Parts: sequence; C-alpha cells; structure tokens
Amino acid sequence: MSSSIMEKYESMEYGPAPEDASEVVKWLDAHGRAFGHYIDGKWTAVGAESFETKNPATGEVLAKVATASAEDVDAAVKAARAALPGWQALSGHQRARYLYALARQVQKHARKLAVLETLDNGKSIRESRDIDIPLVARHFYYHAGWAQLLGQLGVGGFDSEDSGFRGYAPVGVVGQIIPWNFPLLMFAWKVAPALAAGNTVVIKPAEYTPLTAILFAEIAEEIGLPAGVLNVVNGAGETGAAIVAHPDIDKIAFTGSTEVGRIIRKATANTTKKLSLELGGKSPFIVFDDADLDSAVEGLVDGIWFNQGQVCCAGSRLLVQERVAERLYEKIRARMETLRVGSPLDKAIDIGAIVDQVQYDRIAGLVKTGIAEGATCWQPDISLPERGLFFKPTLLTGVSPAATVAQEEIFGPVLVAMTFRTPAEAVELANNTTYGLAACVWSENINVALDVAAQVKAGVVWVNATNLFDAACGFGGYRESGYGREGGKEGMYEYLVPVLTHAPVEEKQILRLRPSDSAQDDKSSGGVGIDRTVKQYIGGKQARPDSGYSYPVFGRDGRLVGEAPLGNRKDVRNAVEAARGMSAKWSKTTAHGRAQVLYFLAENLSLRRAEIAAELAAFVGDAQALREVDVTIERTFAYAAWADKYEGSVHNPPMRMVTLAMKEAIGAVAVLAPDEAPLLGLMSLLLPAIAMGNTVVAVPSERAATLMGELYQVFDTSDLPGGVVNLVAGKAMELGKTLAEHDDIDAIWSFRDEAASAMVKAASIGNLKQVFSNDGHAVDWFDARQCEGRQFLRHATQVKNIWVPYGE
Ligand code: NAI
Ligand code: MG
Repeated sequence: MSSSIMEKYESMEYGPAPEDASEVVKWLDAHGRAFGHYIDGKWTAVGAESFETKNPATGEVLAKVATASAEDVDAAVKAARAALPGWQALSGHQRARYLYALARQVQKHARKLAVLETLDNGKSIRESRDIDIPLVARHFYYHAGWAQLLGQLGVGGFDSEDSGFRGYAPVGVVGQIIPWNFPLLMFAWKVAPALAAGNTVVIKPAEYTPLTAILFAEIAEEIGLPAGVLNVVNGAGETGAAIVAHPDIDKIAFTGSTEVGRIIRKATANTTKKLSLELGGKSPFIVFDDADLDSAVEGLVDGIWFNQGQVCCAGSRLLVQERVAERLYEKIRARMETLRVGSPLDKAIDIGAIVDQVQYDRIAGLVKTGIAEGATCWQPDISLPERGLFFKPTLLTGVSPAATVAQEEIFGPVLVAMTFRTPAEAVELANNTTYGLAACVWSENINVALDVAAQVKAGVVWVNATNLFDAACGFGGYRESGYGREGGKEGMYEYLVPVLTHAPVEEKQILRLRPSDSAQDDKSSGGVGIDRTVKQYIGGKQARPDSGYSYPVFGRDGRLVGEAPLGNRKDVRNAVEAARGMSAKWSKTTAHGRAQVLYFLAENLSLRRAEIAAELAAFVGDAQALREVDVTIERTFAYAAWADKYEGSVHNPPMRMVTLAMKEAIGAVAVLAPDEAPLLGLMSLLLPAIAMGNTVVAVPSERAATLMGELYQVFDTSDLPGGVVNLVAGKAMELGKTLAEHDDIDAIWSFRDEAASAMVKAASIGNLKQVFSNDGHAVDWFDARQCEGRQFLRHATQVKNIWVPYGE
C-alpha cells in the first residue's frame, strides 16, 4: 500500500462527491431562467418588476422571478375565492386524493426538488435530500389523511364524528408568507393543512428562495389540482404586506422574524382575520453532568450546525452543568475540527452556504458584538471555499446571560455557551429569554430530564435528541416565538373555525359600545350614602381602588344599585402580580384538585342562588337572572368535569421516539367580560381558564360590576387559592389596554364589542400574547354548544410536544 493511501486512510479525507445538477439546470434553461406567478392555474408573464435569485454558494444568478404587485395579489385572491366553492363541494375523500397525488409526485420528483433547493438556498444536498424533501412528502401524506377523516362538509361544518372536528368549517381563503430557511418544507407545512381543511391558498415564498415553490406549482398543475386552489405569488416584504392587507383573505399564516410578526399582528388588529405566527427562537440546549457527552456533541452538530444554524428552533444556547463544561467544550472543539464546510452539492459536506449576503453580515455583526461584550470566540482551523457565503462554525464561551448573543437570535452557525450549577438554575437560564420555541435536555436520568422538560417554556422539547420533526407532532412556540401550532391535530385548528361562533353576522348582531356604557361617564364619587360598595378582588383579598374613587352602578330601571371601584393601572399591576405569583402553583395543582375546587364553587353558587339572582335581576330582569345563575352553576359543573378530562395525547412518529403532546396552561390570562350576561359571560370565560391551570385577571361587566361582591364571597368559601382569580372593575377599555400591554399577561380574551377586540389585538403586540375574541360578534352565552367546552379549553391551553427516545 502506498504511503499516500495510508495517509489518506488515517486522515479519513474524502474526495468531493458532487450531486449531478444537470436535470435542474435543464429545467431552469427550459424556462428561460424567468418565472412568473402561478395564479388561477396559469403562469403570468415576467414583466418589468422582477428580482433575481442566486445560488449563495457561488453567487451565480439562477433565475429572474416576477415581483407581485398589489394587483397581482388581488388577482390571486380573487382566483382563490372563486375556487373555494368547488373545492369545498368535493368530498373529503376527493380532496384526500389530491393531497395524496401531491405526496406521490413529491416523492417522484424528490431528487430534482432537493437539488433545486440546495442550489437556491445553499443548504447541503444531504439535508435537502434526506430531511427536507422526505418531510415534505410525509406532510402531504399525513394531511391527505386529515382531508379524508374530516369527511364531508354538511350544514354547520364538517359532519365527521371520528375526527373530532365536528362543528368546524374551513376558514376560507388563506394568505401564507414563508421564510427562506426551509423553503419547500415551510411551503408544505402551510399548504398541506390548509388544503386538507378545505381552504384555498395564496402563498408567497421568501425572496431568496422562490424556486422550489414554483416547481411544486408545476407539479400541482401536472396532477390537475383545480385552478385557483393553490396560487403562488413572488416578491419581498411589500408583496407580503399586500397579502396581509387584502380585505378578502380570511386567515394569515406567517413564519419568519418576530419583527415582521409584530407588524402583521398590528396590520390585522382591526380585522377579523385569523392569524398564526411562527417566529424566532433562542432555544436552550441543556446538558447535565450525567449526560452521554459524546451523544450530546453529536446532538449539537444537528442542533446548531444543521442548515448552517439558520433554523428557528436551533439549539443555539448551550447550557452546560459546570462540572463537565470544560470537558464538553473540549469535545465540541475537537468535533468542530472535523466539520466540513463547502459546496452544498457535495454529498460529504456538513455545512453549506449562508442564504444571502444580508444574512451573512447579520451573523458576522452579531459575533463581533458577542466578542465586544466579553465572550471568547473559537473557530476551527478548517478551510472554506474561496468564494460563496461560507461562515465557519463558531463557539462563543463565557457568555453572560444578559449578553446580546445570549438573547438575540443569530440564525447562523454560532453556538453560545453558558454554565449552570443546579437543575433549578438550568430552568431559570433556559427560560431567561423572550422566546419559547424549542429546547433540548440531555441527561441519562429520566426523572431529571422530564422534570426539566415540564418546566421549560417551549413548544417542543427533545430529550436526548434534537431537531426531530414529524407531521403528526405539532410544532410552534410559547411567548414571543409566536402562536398557533403547525402539524398534528392542533395544527388543523389553525385552518378551521367553529361554525356557531363564526357564522356570518348581520349588522344587528355586532356589538357596538353605547356612549352611556363607559363607566357611567366619569361620574365618579366618593361613595357617600350608598349602602352597597364593592371593592376590587386581588390576591384573594378585597382591596380599595388605588384611585380612591368608585363609580355608581345603575340597574336597568335607572335606580342606583351600588358603587363599584374605579380601577386604574396600579390596580391592574397589583392584580397581575397576584395572578403571576400564583401561576406556577396553580398550574401544578392536580387536575383532580382543580376539579374539586370547581365543584365547591358550584355548590356555593347553589347555596347563594337566591341572593345572586336578586342582585343580578337589577341588571337583566328576574327571568334572565334566575336562568343565568342556574346555567352558571351547570357550566361550573361542566368545567369541573373537564378539568381532568381535557388531556394530552401520545404520538408515534416514524422513528424510535414517543412524543408526549402535553396540554399545558398558558399562564396568566386576562379576561374582558361581556355586559349582556354579566354573570354567565364572566364565568364562561373564567372557568375554562382556571380549570386548565391558568390564573386570571378579569374585568367584569362595567355596567354590572357590583355583582363581583357576590362572586368573591363565593370564591372565598370555595377553597380557591387567593390570586387564581382577580377582579378589577372600572372602564373596560382602559383596563383592557393596560392588560393587553402588560408583559406578565400571557393571553387576553376579549368578549366585548368590536372596538375592544381591535384594541386588544393592537395593544398585545409587545410580548405577542395570544388573543381570543368574539371579534365583536354577539354570543349566546346560554347556548352550551357555542360557549362551553373544547373550543374554550383549547384556547386555555398550549400543546408542548416532548420527544422521548425509547427502544434500542
Ligand atoms: P423576514 O421575517 O423579513 O422574512 C420572512 C418572510 O416575510 C419573507 O417571505 C418576507 O418576504 C416576508 N416579509 C418581510 N416583510 C414583510 C411584511 N412587512 N409583511 C409581510 N411579509 C413580509 O425575515 P428575514 O429578514 O429574511 O430574516 C431576518 C431574521 O428573521 C433572521 O435573521 C432570523 O433571525 C429570523 N427568521 C426567522 C425564521 C423562522 O423560521 N422563525 C425564518 C426567517 C428568518
Ligand atoms: Mg436563492
């Protein structure tokens, strides 16, 4: 054996193994390297307005792509609207066949799609071939299944009992905006559930990576997907904004930066558009001292160097237990020396090119900031190609938890490391970010791993694994990582609406605030000579309003009923503090424990039935009052029943993992209660929230706020721990705005008028809290099908998918 072969054998060097791109080049050339939009089953011409998409590994321009104007977007929306009735007239089975055909064609064209993806995005062919495209196919297969099981559309939505979606209907025309990091996979995550649910789509790929969506549209054309069901328009932010602003779109689904997510939340606040946002992350990768460190290092390679680190759920924050930190860093550095950066078409490459110069500069800038803020930067001594956007894998150690690089998403191949001592400290550090998308926990001790998994605020947790995805397992974030889930059953709800609460409304059914409704027109008084004066209810105690003022509350006959406290920002802050303080404890109270409290509550409401009805009668009359109390008692029983029955599920993804889909409380929920059924409306919102382990700050009906005096007596005698429910009376719009803006409130539910719905949506963009609202529609609180059960429980919870390895 020659010495050079021996050397090669020892160094384990590989020669290049490039993937053949000739088929894709042929396809590009056949189109003259110019692409229009796919609207109503036809391809538009490429006009004057266009942009170039490049191969970031070489800088070569791949093609010219038309930029969609507002008129183009409008044409696409019109096509989608026109296609909707025909698409919905199909049976579930017929829609399933289309989704199945798409899945099959993706498999048949897998190689071409993978190569095109790699050329346009810069990701390694190994990843596009073995991960992205197979997951795209899997997504269409899985959703072909939902199309089938959703069954037929009947009067009042889907008839199918089996699927559990009875009473839901497709949302309508869906506008979707996707990023460049997993171009076709994000396309599949958006399009497959939307079509399966019976919607039609207008989608805009990212401007750096439009090509695979275009090839997919050709595939859709090939299988004969009806014209207008899927429309693909291209362009940058302006085109995206035109989709968001279009009045005839019923739902917007977005994946991308938190910054643009906020813009979209704001832009849709004044509308009834349904919205889901999948935003950034700064996901912790937690390594305990008993972890298998070699496996953890391999996990990190997938966690942060997969897709050049341009992954929203990248394990970008390494938190390692102090005792093993140096040992782990040593192993990581050794492994980094063996990572191969280079031509993405080379099958033996680990790290490809960064998508665009803009992103490259952003990464380089953040690394610089990290060093300036005191981090130690280490990069392996490996070679990079001479041209193209290649960035060396980078390790930043000694990073302080408050540093920019520990808080901001870098979206590049940069790992930021910190140490911790105890599991409690690990959890604290893990949650010390505004994001909450994903987390990894590495420990050989299953108790520690699952205990930490339960405490980390993230929508996905991988135990001794990382970056695993499957269509059956929902994906999505907590907090500023966005809201809504993609994949799984929970993902389907994003493309459906409950028929009863979302029936088209007539003008007379829309609630509009009457001028006289606003905390009785500032006629505040000191409460002289009034016998019934109620206080705020905060932390389980009655509290005087900070303002020192009360306002008179009148019955419907105009007689003075009593005085309610006029709440202000300070009262809200105190109530939020009480709710926040109780949040961890109440969410850990067993479901049985919470059920029991709710049963006591129902019992105590029954005992005080007559008094409460008498008080309520002043506002709603005798007949409604008694009925309202009785239905409230029944509803309380219903949620006591649900408390230990609205459970999670277990998924079996196609790998040796079991995925526990846990339904977790959201945290502290703010409730703006309606006026029309002051007791039943308030309780219909409070009960599901607390049944699921949330704490609540509620603003009771402004017009009937004295009622809360009766209520807190019931709460006090029902073993409801102080702080679980807090009541702050006053001007609902003012208090609601303070609550919507408060960073310690995780969700806000508004069931008042149109103005209140728009206000909470706009005011909640700070921490991107989840909004649940009637959009101003009149709600029949007495109708249990509308106002009780799963729909409310779903909003009271978020699903955390915990992936646990099992088997060999
Ligand atoms: P971006 O949020 O600007 O782009 C995502 C998509 O939104 C693209 O299709 C873009 O054309 C569109 N868009 C941009 N402005 C819009 C607007 N005003 N209205 C509607 N649509 C709009 O993300 P960008 O600038 O490409 O990347 C910036 C940072 O965002 C990255 O460094 C990364 O931190 C984060 N990011 C996160 C992603 C995720 O998967 N969560 C994906 C892409 C980026
Ligand atoms: Mg490109």
